[in-house]
Amino acid sequence: MAFWGELDDRIVGAPSILAADFANLADEVRQAQRGGAELVHFDAMDNHFVPNLTVGPVVAASLIEATDLPVDAHLMVDNPDNLIQPFIEAGVVSISVQPEAITHLHRTLTAIRGGGCEAGVALNPTTSPASIEWAFPYLDYVLVMSVNPGFGGQSFIPEMADKVRRLKEMTDLPIQVDGGITAETAPVMVEAGAQVVVAGSAVYKGDPETEMRKIIEASRAAQ
Ligand code: DX5
Ligand code: ZN
Repeated sequence: MAFWGELDDRIVGAPSILAADFANLADEVRQAQRGGAELVHFDAMDNHFVPNLTVGPVVAASLIEATDLPVDAHLMVDNPDNLIQPFIEAGVVSISVQPEAITHLHRTLTAIRGGGCEAGVALNPTTSPASIEWAFPYLDYVLVMSVNPGFGGQSFIPEMADKVRRLKEMTDLPIQVDGGITAETAPVMVEAGAQVVVAGSAVYKGDPETEMRKIIEASRAAQ
């Protein structure tokens, strides 16, 4: 099972279910899917690494059972190692971890890949691309956070487009962007080199099908 390895140069839209109605998750995902979404962005938070608490592998497993889109887990948790195996067993296609929360990043990435998932790192806005250079061979994608992780609905940090550009000079790994992504900011990130655009509140603030489509079309027009 691969998503990132088969991306080529396609631009993909991914709804972040953090902004969805958690009592109707599968339907909320299907609505975004009708608007062209090809990946589900699943945010796990622990009230330690970030001051918020969301859902974990049990909910991921139910969602994967109920929908047919691949699910990508973004772990905003301290010491994610205990959660790697449960998320793999839940059936996610890929897992990104925050290097700021991890002491032995190589070991964590190796565990993700060892379980048959693709591995990513998610960089806080002030974490330097250079800090993960030696992890590139163990990665399938890089997630550039364009807000501080923890909450939906925050304002896009414009300097993060330069971070995407810097990463593209350093590696051919596909880049995902997350935080404050809208039909206005997504093209800025795609022009810089991002391929997977994650959007939460911009998709679920209105009709998810329409809003997802707007973001994907604006992104593809900028490629
Ligand atoms: C933030 C999460 C995001 C969040 C984005 O910590 O990682 O995935 O859902 O929300 P928006 O798109 O509203 O900024
Ligand atoms: Zn996220």
